[in-house]
Amino acid sequence: MPAATGGDPASPRTGVLVVPHGVPPECPRPLRLGVLASGQGSNFEALVQCSRHGALRAEVVGLVVNTPHCKALARAERLGVAATVMDHHHYSSRKALDHALVEHFRDLQVDVLVMAGWMRIVSPVLCQAYDQRLVNIHPSLLPAFRGLNAMERALAAGVCITGCTAHLVVPEVDAGPILVQAAVPAYPDDTLATLAPRIHAQEHRILPVAVAMAGQRLFERP
Ligand code: GRF
Repeated sequence: MPAATGGDPASPRTGVLVVPHGVPPECPRPLRLGVLASGQGSNFEALVQCSRHGALRAEVVGLVVNTPHCKALARAERLGVAATVMDHHHYSSRKALDHALVEHFRDLQVDVLVMAGWMRIVSPVLCQAYDQRLVNIHPSLLPAFRGLNAMERALAAGVCITGCTAHLVVPEVDAGPILVQAAVPAYPDDTLATLAPRIHAQEHRILPVAVAMAGQRLFERP
């Protein structure tokens, strides 16, 4: 499990990790994780690596992408994770895609579903099917900079501190209960190219913690 505080002292611009809720207890059995991605898939890979190296008691049992040639798909192939393309253009509505996702991940008996760079707004269909166990990662300290281009907008606003948030998903975009956040400094000379890797590095640390928290809640439910 990632440490509760961090930052490489040799590299002062690495960022500072803040996990206020502490490290969640281990789940009684390995979690079955489903992942949704649209692009690079670095958070997807972080979840796979954490699961395989014992930092997260889980197995990533399936990836779904909505963009046919995205890098996440290539990562899945390299990592040996089953991947499926569900191109949103082939569905009549958001709900239709979400119904297909629910069916797909139900067949895989997924406990926790993770939106790891899933660039689609989800409908209540997915939120209700995975109530309290649908997790999203967002590149800002929510509730600041909800929605698209969060890092660009944080830079444009001149913030000194930004970061990332892992939260439960509700139908309102980027508004669900916060599970874990990490704070990351933004420097006056930062550009998207320098800030993004700093934020991504922290995303890769907090997302497994948030998944473990969601999983733990699952087992605590009556
Ligand atoms: C991350 O910055 C995440 O916060 C946002 O989309 C990006 C996905 O990155 N929702 P990756 O595809 O996991 O590399």
